[in-house]
Amino acid sequence: MHLFFSKKDLALGIVLGVVIGLVLGYVVSTRDIDDLKSQISNLQSQIEQIRELIPPLRTLAEENGILIGSAVTASYLTEAPYAQTLSREFDILTTENALKFEPVHPSRDQYTFGDADAIVSFAEANGMKVRGHTLVWHQQLPGWITQGTFTREEWKTILHDHITTVVSRYKRRIYAWDVVNEAIDDDGSLRNTVWLQGIGPEYIRLAFEWAHEADPQALLFYNDYGASGSGVKSDAVYNLVKNLTESGVPINGVGLQMHISLESPPVFGDIAANFERLNDLGLEVQVTELDVRLRTPATTEDLTQQANIYRNMLEVCLSADNCTAFVMWGFTDKYSWIPAANPGYGSALIFDESYNPKSAYFALISVLAERSNQD
Ligand code: G3I
Repeated sequence: MHLFFSKKDLALGIVLGVVIGLVLGYVVSTRDIDDLKSQISNLQSQIEQIRELIPPLRTLAEENGILIGSAVTASYLTEAPYAQTLSREFDILTTENALKFEPVHPSRDQYTFGDADAIVSFAEANGMKVRGHTLVWHQQLPGWITQGTFTREEWKTILHDHITTVVSRYKRRIYAWDVVNEAIDDDGSLRNTVWLQGIGPEYIRLAFEWAHEADPQALLFYNDYGASGSGVKSDAVYNLVKNLTESGVPINGVGLQMHISLESPPVFGDIAANFERLNDLGLEVQVTELDVRLRTPATTEDLTQQANIYRNMLEVCLSADNCTAFVMWGFTDKYSWIPAANPGYGSALIFDESYNPKSAYFALISVLAERSNQD
């Protein structure tokens, strides 16, 4: 039989058909993708517009009479979304590492204030207060301290010089200091630190007195973890600050760190009761290092539970007469101490790694907004 098309023509025709089909398919699917892209971009700009209608945390916190803040690292301040989110949302910053003994006083006759200066200047430029963290701690100490062999008088001179130099430099610029950090051990005893060994238990009282001499207007805090609710450590911290207060030592409050795990949420009633007994001593409380870690990757349910913990903790603070600040240990999951220190855990803060607000952020907004509307 004579074929009108040769087999070769037929094969070419099929190939051509397939190619035309692919090209047409590509054009159609490209159009679909373009449509999708433009819908997404419309949605994104609508979300942005809605977000602009929500007041920042700091505005709502101010209406509720508390400060709201975050720990910061100086080197990230040059990253635009980091700086913009900080200045928009918060009115108090804590120096995460910049003022610890090792970075700020690396050798006996050398102080390095660059990072702390940058944080304090940023805060001032954006109408924020600063919490100085921390004058006396057993971690992040330089070798000249950890390996130093000094007499008791020399230890006192070293600590006095350190506190006087650091606090004086930021006189009237740093609003509150974590003067002594984590001096109580988990069993409620005084932690065995270089300061206890070198000076004796009175190093705590002396640190508060020297800080007060250097800046009489600064608020002075004792800061610790595991002491927010009930228990042996919480009682030991209570007894320590009670003794200090009754002996006339210049202490204004207690900082409760609150590094929480989703797996063991706190008992909020116990925290409220602890805030109250500290109030009875005439002391402020500040939530100083809040974060809520969870196993990663986070599920939607995890993030909802996390948001509830942030919400409940803020409720406790707002309901207490003496809770003056609510500070988180960072704000973006991009920069948090959690994954390095707790492998397998993360996502502990209120903005994700791309600076998008998480459920926890909206939980804080809603608590503050509800209470603003009640007033
Ligand atoms: O700055 C050095 C750098 O020079 C060096 O190259 C690098 C190598 O590891 O280390 C850098 O220091 C690190 C420092 O953070 C600054 O990034 C330390 O290794 C690291 O251990 C240190 O971790 C800090 C930790 O305290 C130290 O114990 C965390 O960032 C900080 O978030 C954490 O904060 C503490 C509070 O002060 C007290 N309450 C608990 C809280 C969490 O542990």
